[in-house]
Amino acid sequence: MIQWYPGHMKKARDEIVQTLPRVDVIIEMRDARLPLSSRNPVLGELRQGRPCLIILSKKDLADPVATAQWISAFEKEEGIRAIDAETHDRSIGDRILTICRKLTPENRRRPLKAMIVGIPNVGKSTLLNTLAGRRVAQVGNQPAVTRTQQTLTLGKGPGKMDILDTPGILWPNLADRKGAYRLAVSGAIKDTAMDYREAALFAAVHMMRHYPLLLIQRYGLDTLPDSPALLLEAIGRRKGCLLKGGVVDDHRASERFIHDFRTGQLGRISLERPGDDDLQNPDPFDDLDDDSPADKQDSVTDRPV
Ligand code: G4P
Repeated sequence: MIQWYPGHMKKARDEIVQTLPRVDVIIEMRDARLPLSSRNPVLGELRQGRPCLIILSKKDLADPVATAQWISAFEKEEGIRAIDAETHDRSIGDRILTICRKLTPENRRRPLKAMIVGIPNVGKSTLLNTLAGRRVAQVGNQPAVTRTQQTLTLGKGPGKMDILDTPGILWPNLADRKGAYRLAVSGAIKDTAMDYREAALFAAVHMMRHYPLLLIQRYGLDTLPDSPALLLEAIGRRKGCLLKGGVVDDHRASERFIHDFRTGQLGRISLERPGDDDLQNPDPFDDLDDDSPADKQDSVTDRPV
């Protein structure tokens, strides 16, 4: 199982509590591929009705149908607007400014203050660098690299908006085991803290069910294997992840599969889609007695694909 105890949660929460009174609008970043698991559970309560722009980052990697559905679902809440974005896209600054202005019509005559918040690896640093037009924050493939304090300004004069950076690191809810697996597969949890094989089996269950054609195409398969374990074995053989004697190296095959997902080589895939059965019960303890995906690998073969 995934092991990850950040220990910074209280500090990050305190920083956000201190900063929020100075902020007119919150820019919350979530990963478009997993917009529920990549949120921070306490932000809703800390927000206290402040206007919020949700940016679903990494739209280029996510299933566009699912992303559009998430956007409509989020915008049902008062004071929330949502957009999807590829955070390297230079037009994003104008979009953010326009939406934040619309979200705060009472502040029309004065500059706005905003903060970007989000869990590690959702693209906060990338977005800040794009907005600044230069490198102001360190981008990295390991979570929690945003360290320095930055202030950026979008627009000019009374219509401008200042964006604070530092207090924005939030932590995801790891009590939800399925959510923790999704975070691990996405890259939001440090690779050293995850079991690749378990994470890959978890992802394989989802993808065999919802994106079978992408798997078949990517790995040149004739048909979909009967179980996630067999899928990983087929991937290992196709990609040459073999040990001596031609036995598939499970770890390397799992790494390869997760890498293909993270880099978009499998196609545009969302790990959470509105209406999926396993999102219907948000009780974080709903599956605590379940076996791990590794133990369940054969029980998914009867699922429709
Ligand atoms: P953080 O500050 O929230 O922790 O996230 P950060 O910007 O460091 O981004 C984490 C990784 O996500 C980076 O990849 C970054 O390039 C990638 N990323 C951010 N936004 C997007 C996006 O909209 N689309 C895609 N496809 N990727 C995005 P990396 O491999 O860790 O770093 P690098 O190789 O890009 O430097």
